[in-house]
Amino acid sequence: MRHVKLGVNIDHIATLRQARGEKNPDTVEAARVVYSSGGDMVVMHLRQDRRHIQDDDLERVRHDVKGLIHLEMAAIPEMEKIALRVRPDSVCLVPEGPRELTTQGGMKLDAKRPDLEKMIKKLSDAGIEVSIFADPEPQAIRAAHNMGADCIELCTKTFAESWGKKLQAKELEKLQLAGFLVKELKMELHAGHGLDYYNVASVARIEGMDCLNIGFSIVSRGLFVGLKTAVAEMKRLIQ
Ligand code: PXP
Repeated sequence: MRHVKLGVNIDHIATLRQARGEKNPDTVEAARVVYSSGGDMVVMHLRQDRRHIQDDDLERVRHDVKGLIHLEMAAIPEMEKIALRVRPDSVCLVPEGPRELTTQGGMKLDAKRPDLEKMIKKLSDAGIEVSIFADPEPQAIRAAHNMGADCIELCTKTFAESWGKKLQAKELEKLQLAGFLVKELKMELHAGHGLDYYNVASVARIEGMDCLNIGFSIVSRGLFVGLKTAVAEMKRLIQ
């Protein structure tokens, strides 16, 4: 059986908690459920505006729960410092806009970015695997590779939005071709954004896929069937 790993993003557990500014629902409890129901890693995006995940969530999950932690973060010194202190197992560098509802696409890697290259090296030297969130475009993938990233997370936002539309097959093909290049460059292949219980299977079947990072659909389904069932169902779908 192929093992595609499942990273479960728990940002929106924290969104719900922030709505009342209280302790529940607790991200530590959510992380325990993720690991015990087939999730391979817990994913958190510590945003600059701290709208959902707080520094304390990251610290507590790292400290109180045994399991892999994947941190999504903007490529800025503040986040680099936090990552080097808390030591997630891996990070994904993502673009971040102040008023966006969610991440809008991959990192723009068309210009020379010595700052990014330096950050990737620092994080790697600290034993943290570095992934770059990239649109399925050869130029971005090659640039991330040249900067020393270990992994590419392909942005599936446009594919997810094309679901059921004419462009769906073309968007899937773009992801497949991009995946082929990532593997050719001997990098780890991840994908995520907008994946749900309907569209996930075709992305999971992309040759060489190592891991899918999924949040919103799992947490949403978890409200009705329980987080444990929602994670286990997703895990079954991606095998
Ligand atoms: N991967 C990355 C890089 C993201 O920024 C996000 C959203 O936080 C996800 C995956 C998960 O997306 P979704 O919540 O739509 O499943």
